[in-house]
Amino acid sequence: MFEKPLLLLAVIVAVSAVGNGCQLGKAIYKPVIDGTPVYWPPSWTETQPAPQLETEQSCSWIVTIPRGYYAKLIISGKTTDKDSRFQTVDTAGNLVQTTQENMEPYYFPSPKFTIAVSNTGSATFAFKVVWFPLPYLDDSIRVGPLAKVMNATSTVNYNNYWDANSNSLTLMTFPADTKNYYSLRSTLVFDGPGLSSGCYISNLYQLYQTTNQWTSSQKSIIVLNLEASSSNDKLLFLSSKYLAGIGEMVKLQPQANSIYNGTVNGLMSSLVAVTDLPMQMIDVQMESASTVTVYNGSPAVYALNKTYTGTQLKNALPLSFSGPVVQFVVSSGKAVFTFKS
Ligand SMILES: *[C@@H]1O[C@H](CO)[C@@H](O)[C@H](O)[C@H]1NC(C)=O
Ligand SMILES: *[C@@H]1O[C@H](CO)[C@@H](O)[C@H](O)[C@H]1NC(C)=O
Ligand SMILES: *[C@@H]1O[C@H](CO)[C@@H](O)[C@H](O)[C@H]1NC(C)=O
Repeated sequence: MFEKPLLLLAVIVAVSAVGNGCQLGKAIYKPVIDGTPVYWPPSWTETQPAPQLETEQSCSWIVTIPRGYYAKLIISGKTTDKDSRFQTVDTAGNLVQTTQENMEPYYFPSPKFTIAVSNTGSATFAFKVVWFPLPYLDDSIRVGPLAKVMNATSTVNYNNYWDANSNSLTLMTFPADTKNYYSLRSTLVFDGPGLSSGCYISNLYQLYQTTNQWTSSQKSIIVLNLEASSSNDKLLFLSSKYLAGIGEMVKLQPQANSIYNGTVNGLMSSLVAVTDLPMQMIDVQMESASTVTVYNGSPAVYALNKTYTGTQLKNALPLSFSGPVVQFVVSSGKAVFTFKS
């Protein structure tokens, strides 16, 4: 009963490769009036389901972004066979390939990004791009021995983080939810004090997926959040000069009303917690002769809280700690810390 109208609908909304300008390398420019969207296909808007693509399509667009602007992209669509995908590449060459898109926005810096689709079998596909002026620089924030913790996504912001005494800085991301962190896509990271295209590294979403801790090549990092979300995602900035002797760095993400472990292994390995929650250490398993040094910031003398041997620590438990950042540096061997929040 239902098959006929559905088929008919599919035929009507099928996007013709020729008729709708689906081709390779088509350029899209910002309309004169800021905030004016460009849709593909032009008849689509985000209140409609994505139209059907003809099979065997290969289309791409180069979206140019003037200096002083960023572009926001949403894609709606789904592919149905294993060889078909949607793809974006930003100006730093970061590639994203997906097979289903539900209009979760992407944000791109100047001067361009590309969007492409290639499908073998049936697929739906549509997108919208809007260009907006960049926010103005809010603040220049010095990262000292106490480190710096920032809310990544709670406000629109544009900050320059720097330490004139360190050759580089590191950035660690602590998303509010480690399983769903699309909110990080609105945050762009630049290596150095300017927004020139050569300095663009990635958005925070991809940076979080690919690196535990990212290290700049310059004395400053610019982080630009283009859209506020209700997600309490945190960023930790450290000056590399304090990390010289540190081995692996492991993130600890406290959860309210729960008991959780942090495990490190090796020489001078560090467990790093960034949180608004009070934490209580209730158990530890480590070599009794190894030491744990607690820092309220970087592993720097200035941020030192206290040093314990394994035996002393065990005897002192339970111990309370609070953020915004606490580091536990273990001199050697495996250590498992158990906390309660
Ligand atoms: C960061 O977010 C937390 C929790 O939402 C809030 O308590 C805190 O004031 C915020 N800090 C800044 C610097 O905005
Ligand atoms: C934490 O680690 C201890 C020791 O390895 C283990 O017994 C316990 O089950 C772990 N707890 C959690 C919540 O993972
Ligand atoms: C160490 O941390 C605890 C809990 O965060 C705090 O009460 C104490 O004052 C700190 N000690 C030093 C020396 O900073």
